[in-house]
Amino acid sequence: MEIAIANHKGGSGKTTTTLNLGCVLRDLGFRVLLIDLDPQGNLSYSLGVNNFPFTSADWLIGHTTLSETAFEVSGLHLVPADLRLSNLENEIMALGNSQILLRKRMEGVSYDFVLIDCPPAFNVYTRNALSVSDFVLIPMLMDVLSIQGTLQMLKIIEQVRLTSNEALKVLGAVGVAVNGSRKLSNEISEYLAEHCNVKLFNQKIRNSVKVAEAPSHAQSVIDYAPESSSALDYRNLAQEILTEIRKKSQEKLKINSLGS
Ligand SMILES: Nc1ncnc2c1ncn2[C@@H]1O[C@H](COP(=O)(O)OP(=O)(O)OP(=O)(O)O)[C@@H](O)[C@H]1O
Ligand SMILES: [Mg+2]
Repeated sequence: MEIAIANHKGGSGKTTTTLNLGCVLRDLGFRVLLIDLDPQGNLSYSLGVNNFPFTSADWLIGHTTLSETAFEVSGLHLVPADLRLSNLENEIMALGNSQILLRKRMEGVSYDFVLIDCPPAFNVYTRNALSVSDFVLIPMLMDVLSIQGTLQMLKIIEQVRLTSNEALKVLGAVGVAVNGSRKLSNEISEYLAEHCNVKLFNQKIRNSVKVAEAPSHAQSVIDYAPESSSALDYRNLAQEILTEIRKKSQEKLKINSLGS
């Protein structure tokens, strides 16, 4: 199962959510691969992986295999990224079928969950993530401007559905770094459901200083501060997400059987 963690808007909690969700799924006994597709390399850095010969871009292009590129770290597998992704972007775009390179690389690769951390841009890396994924999860801050970002994101998803991945589904939106009023959260939730047909998960991730501290210890907040409010929130969120995946996968099965 491949899940792209994406939002066009910067600083919306994509990397934090990828890492912590990955660690919760690991703790539940799942085999998890994290793919860093952001030239900022924040996901890799957050796991203390900052000196490596090959990046996710080398793998996408076909310069390297998955086993040459991936690291085992904190009980997870990670395909790392850094600024070299920016240098290779033009080379990737010049290749044929540049949107679906990751899909090709993932053929025959078997993990319970593959979580893909996208950059805050609709570039070739985000396209590759969305083109290979079953689901997209949209982390967002609980403010009004973030609704605009989510609406833009939905347009991007629609483009990908039309061009390279008809089966792509929105899993839902996750409110992160939340410390505001319940009223605003409820209003945003209603808006997303009514106007965008997007579920905002009930479980929000509260604002916590532990989340900001964890990367400097090369750890997720799940490992760094397992009793913190945000670790608890991510564990609860993972349960809600697993339930939603089961529900949406059954819907998909029903639709497929109707079509046959
Ligand atoms: N629950 C939280 N509590 C406090 N700070 C948080 C929380 N979630 C995220 N942050 C902080 O918000 C900032 C942005 O988070 P993150 O890097 O996950 O966003 P992003 O969407 O990946 O950003 P970018 O678009 O640059 O890739 C980071 O400094 C992170 O530590
Ligand atoms: Mg990020």
